[in-house]
Amino acid sequence: MKQLKISLSFLLFCTNILVFGQKKQPFFWGVATAAYQVEGAYQTDGKGESKWDFLTNKVGITQFTIGEKQTGNVSINMYDRTQYLKDLALLKQLGANSYRFSLDWSRIIPDGTGAVNEKALAHYDQLIDDVLAAGLEPFVTIYHFDYPVVLMQKDGWGNPAMVDWYINYASIVMKRFGKKVKHFITFNEPYIEFFLVENMLHEQESKHIPPKEYYMSQMQKAHRQLIANAKAIELYHSLQLKGQIGIVLNVNPGAAWNASKVADVKAANFQDILINGLFLDPLYKGKYPQMAMDSLAKYNPSFQPSASDLTFIAQNKPDFLGINFYAPAVVKGEDSAMSLKWLDNNPDAIKSNVGPVMPEYLYKMLIRLKKDYGNPTVYITENGTGFAGEDVVKNGKVNDPLRIDYIKRHVAYALKAKREGVNLGGYMVWSGWDNFEWVSGYTKRLGLIYVDFKTQERIPKQSFFEYKKLIQKYKGI
Ligand code: FCB
Repeated sequence: MKQLKISLSFLLFCTNILVFGQKKQPFFWGVATAAYQVEGAYQTDGKGESKWDFLTNKVGITQFTIGEKQTGNVSINMYDRTQYLKDLALLKQLGANSYRFSLDWSRIIPDGTGAVNEKALAHYDQLIDDVLAAGLEPFVTIYHFDYPVVLMQKDGWGNPAMVDWYINYASIVMKRFGKKVKHFITFNEPYIEFFLVENMLHEQESKHIPPKEYYMSQMQKAHRQLIANAKAIELYHSLQLKGQIGIVLNVNPGAAWNASKVADVKAANFQDILINGLFLDPLYKGKYPQMAMDSLAKYNPSFQPSASDLTFIAQNKPDFLGINFYAPAVVKGEDSAMSLKWLDNNPDAIKSNVGPVMPEYLYKMLIRLKKDYGNPTVYITENGTGFAGEDVVKNGKVNDPLRIDYIKRHVAYALKAKREGVNLGGYMVWSGWDNFEWVSGYTKRLGLIYVDFKTQERIPKQSFFEYKKLIQKYKGI
């Protein structure tokens, strides 16, 4: 009897080690940034010229969109260690336990494929150490829209060699930082890169709305990025690093402008497929949605993804899915799904700068990931907003009730989905700080922390303090 008791307690002990010895991941609360939007220091430590350096400085892209030339040359100065240490201290004050940021390929391999710039690697090594020392889990985006301009001049993702160029870069990063970084992200939002931003640029150049043939020709590039994503995942797993690698997609669920109009409902469904299904289906089901393939057959018949490509993508699934959710795609029957018409549709009386505020669609999307895509581990890697006129300093304070309301309601829906069994592991606000918002330059503020772009002064907004309360309240979930 005594022996039985001893062996029983031994069994219990072993079970405890198995169950509790495995480090359970906490829920990650944090904020996100991307290198070009925050770093500045565009010629420091041997950095090469990047696509976005070129677009802002030489093409003057923001002149067309906001009527003024603006660049990320200085931005919010976060390459500077003195500056970023203060910024990390603010995240500590916020109570965050994670920070998503990206690496700049043009710093690490200035000419894209050749010599590695040790100074840049040393910089990011230090940054990662500093992030960890601040008690923050680094979520490192390897590629966030930007890459060395020399590769763009060789047609970027239009060139089949881009996959190898990217893998070479990604392998340098994984090998150097893989012991410390437990969450890597291969790519950020392929839809936005190819179907939104490049489409907009094309419209500016050609002075007319790009035809469906142009729109669909972008598919080849997106497909190539999905192959590069799968190769990077395969490589990461072969390195046996004890962490996870995933991809980040923007998710904009289709929503009919008028739910009782059949044409609107149909159009919303098709738009949904071209934004969300186009990426989710190959990643999780190993095929492109049939409706997308039908349109491709019509407008880009040369796009013929091989069965082996699709099998390869499905065999190398991401360990987690990062979703960036801002708003649904609200669609009218007459909108062409192969256009950016949906961006103009916003029924809200007070319009945010990221589309209609409809947090229930975040919930719907999360449930859909559970039901239709095998309930993957999901992190909300971006969610946030801004309203014109709200981010103004009055008596040293910034009161932003609309942003507070937005964040609260999105967190509530996210947690509801989690309670209903969605594998949700974290939530990050875009962004910690006001920063360079791509084609909108500095005209759209989305930060929890106000930045005076001239003096680099930081002022935590009211939303910073409210988000802090949310984190405190839900820390242990
Ligand atoms: C997303 C981008 C991010 C930021 C937000 C507002 O599409 O990933 O860099 O610009 O939008």
